[in-house]
Amino acid sequence: MDIQRVMVIGAGQMGSGIAQVCATNGYQVILHDINERYVQKGSEAINKQLKRQIDKGRIAADEVERINARIETTTKLQRAEEADIVIEAVVENMEVKKTLFQQLDEFAPPETILATNTSSLPITEIAAETKRPHQVIGMHFMNPVPVMKLVEIIRGLATSEEVYEKVEEMAKALQKVFVDVSDFPGFVSNRILMPMINEAIFTVYEGVASPQDVDQVMNLGMNHPMGPLTLADFIGLDTCLYIMETLHEGFGDDKYRPCPLLRKYVKAGWLGRKTGRGFYVYER
Ligand code: NAI
Repeated sequence: MDIQRVMVIGAGQMGSGIAQVCATNGYQVILHDINERYVQKGSEAINKQLKRQIDKGRIAADEVERINARIETTTKLQRAEEADIVIEAVVENMEVKKTLFQQLDEFAPPETILATNTSSLPITEIAAETKRPHQVIGMHFMNPVPVMKLVEIIRGLATSEEVYEKVEEMAKALQKVFVDVSDFPGFVSNRILMPMINEAIFTVYEGVASPQDVDQVMNLGMNHPMGPLTLADFIGLDTCLYIMETLHEGFGDDKYRPCPLLRKYVKAGWLGRKTGRGFYVYER
């Protein structure tokens, strides 16, 4: 069975990006979210992105029409019955993902691959919620999906070689570069990135420097294209906190303790760019 039909669950910043990249590369896509408003928001984000590509002369207007025609939206999870692969990109919360995978296991045909775009949660534990743990895999795209080349492919303990190979083929078809990663908290990317972001937040928390100056040091001093606090706002501070909690719990080491300032911002609803305020304020 070749992968042709993709269902993406969660039409937020990652889900809409994954849907766009799949449709751009010829896959039929069903984009799902819990209500019509979120689904619409996802569609609008895709349209905005594609329009920007037209303006930059990277893509023709009629090609955009063809891409859009390959994307359907839905609020019905049952439509997983039509998919060869489901890629889940909902909030980074284990309980939410577990419930979702139990439901997907019911609706999707037995041969359907269930992939998760989780940034840090154990694939093995998510897979254990299903009757097909050999068909569950991590497919961790980077943000923004249409721009970033990398995908981490994460094997759960039970993931079959056949499923791994199919997902590798799909990553190639999406014109991504992939790395083969085993299932440990934060995989490679966030195990290295998040402690740096958390440390940057501690630096602000302890009054060592302002967010602007912390970012300036990493930007101009270390040649990072984006300072860690700008990046944290871009990722979403809720997602950053979830990932730090996963690292803290998974490794049991206090070096992964989330900074209290990060907790405070999340409690205040200051989640970064997506809510208009995080370490910086954004026009919406
Ligand atoms: P987001 O907050 O932009 O979007 C999440 C979407 O999921 C929302 O539209 C929400 O309505 C929807 N959702 C929540 N529960 C749902 C359910 N039960 N069924 C269907 N839809 C549901 O979050 P974002 O940033 O797109 O993150 C999604 C996933 O991707 C998380 O697991 C995150 O860790 C991962 N990720 C995030 C990256 C980032 O830079 N933000 C990078 C790579 C992975």
